[in-house]
Amino acid sequence: MTKLLLLFSAFLFHVALGTIVVSSKSHPKADFSTVQGAIDSLPNDNSSQVILILTGDYTEQVNITRPGPVTLLGQTDDLTDASKNTVNLIWAAADGDDNYPDDEYTSTLTVSPTLDASLTGSGVTGFDVPDDTPFGNKDFRMYNINLQNIYANYSAGPALAISFSRSNGGFYYCGFYSYQDTVYIGKLGNAYFYESIIAGQTDFFYGFGTAWVQSSQILLRGCGGGITAWKGYNTTFENKYGIYIVDSRVTAANASVATEIVGQCALGRPWNSLDRTIFARTYEDASIISTGYINWLDDGVYRYNNHTLFAEYKAYGPGFNLTGRIEGGLDEIMTDEEYEPYSTPAKVFQTPEGEFGNTAWIDTSPWN
Ligand SMILES: *[C@@H]1O[C@H](CO)[C@@H](O)[C@H](O)[C@H]1NC(C)=O
Ligand SMILES: *[C@@H]1O[C@H](CO)[C@@H](O)[C@H](O)[C@H]1NC(C)=O
Ligand SMILES: *[C@@H]1O[C@H](CO)[C@@H](O)[C@H](O)[C@H]1NC(C)=O
Ligand SMILES: *[C@@H]1O[C@H](CO)[C@@H](O)[C@H](O)[C@H]1NC(C)=O
Ligand SMILES: *[C@@H]1O[C@H](CO)[C@@H](O)[C@H](O)[C@H]1NC(C)=O
Ligand SMILES: *[C@@H]1O[C@H](CO)[C@@H](O)[C@H](O)[C@H]1NC(C)=O
Ligand SMILES: *[C@@H]1O[C@H](CO)[C@@H](O)[C@H](O)[C@H]1NC(C)=O
Repeated sequence: MTKLLLLFSAFLFHVALGTIVVSSKSHPKADFSTVQGAIDSLPNDNSSQVILILTGDYTEQVNITRPGPVTLLGQTDDLTDASKNTVNLIWAAADGDDNYPDDEYTSTLTVSPTLDASLTGSGVTGFDVPDDTPFGNKDFRMYNINLQNIYANYSAGPALAISFSRSNGGFYYCGFYSYQDTVYIGKLGNAYFYESIIAGQTDFFYGFGTAWVQSSQILLRGCGGGITAWKGYNTTFENKYGIYIVDSRVTAANASVATEIVGQCALGRPWNSLDRTIFARTYEDASIISTGYINWLDDGVYRYNNHTLFAEYKAYGPGFNLTGRIEGGLDEIMTDEEYEPYSTPAKVFQTPEGEFGNTAWIDTSPWN
């Protein structure tokens, strides 16, 4: 059976079982014309829910707070090529002049149990999320959907495409497009990305949580800050918060950008000193700066210290300059033994006291 037929039969199967259908245009099977309309119709319980979004542009901010599993499917003719996605969730907002109470308010999609749990806040430890805040979505899945924040075609302040906190979620064959702070994984956020496209310019993976980016394309639309800017925080349990970019490709977004940014883009900079970032088995084009990572001077103090883990494991390509890495002194080139504790999603997505303690929410063979 071809993958297309598989989607078609999956479509009919789920529709029969009560899949909710969203269409921006009038359509006989459509239950809602907006994604938020479909989300708001879901019961606030632990039941599993599937929403199919038909081809189109949806200009809306979407917030998901419910605890039960939610799957968002985007209609597509090519299940395994994110560049061919036909469903776009679009918003245009940037927190460039502190014109919003928090960066969170700019995000196209937010998955978080409460607004407080999704706030970035400020300072070393960020917004102080109340202790009695529940965990949010236990199993969020999104397939073949693009999230765009189109505020400007350059870094104009935080312009989030996704804000994901206190939840577990997987993104398969999805696209994330903005210029700054594109992907925010907040506190106790566990996010897995697979065969997705993430495009940005400045600090475009940032957060406090744990993100694993598998077999994806990271597109540089310019250079600014770092590709990543993580802020670790001390938890009472052994969560290996951080950003893990694995078996992926980091390249200039197109040929004209490529000529402008040779040797200029940093893999990351430490948003705070507990940053943990690893690029593993990842191709790096000539856009990457020779030192790999860079430091961050804040009020006269460099944030990089001996709590920071900036690493590469078997990184390759013209952007991987071993001499430059060693001279820079920030980048740990990991051996097999050093990489081993971070070498699978199950090793890094640790969660409190077995409460959510496994990776069953990851789809290990999407569309296969
Ligand atoms: C959802 O399940 C959890 C246990 O996993 C339970 O504590 C909670 O009360 C349930 N929520 C609802 C709304 O049923
Ligand atoms: C989603 O949350 C943001 C704040 O993060 C708020 O500004 C926006 O109005 C919310 N949108 C919906 C549809 O609830
Ligand atoms: C960004 O560029 C696209 C493609 O050239 C254009 O359609 C869009 O209007 C631009 N957006 C802004 C905010 O200037
Ligand atoms: C290349 O990417 C840059 C950054 O996103 C964009 O401004 C420019 O329009 C793109 N050029 C082409 C030819 O697509
Ligand atoms: C976390 O703990 C380490 C080690 O105890 C300490 O040095 C560091 O300042 C703490 N960081 C934060 C952000 O609280
Ligand atoms: C970390 O650095 C501080 C001083 O900057 C030093 O006192 C401490 O011993 C170092 N810790 C480790 C584990 O190297
Ligand atoms: C690699 O880094 C070294 C040390 O900074 C530098 O001299 C050299 O030009 C770099 N090579 C390339 C190809 O950028």
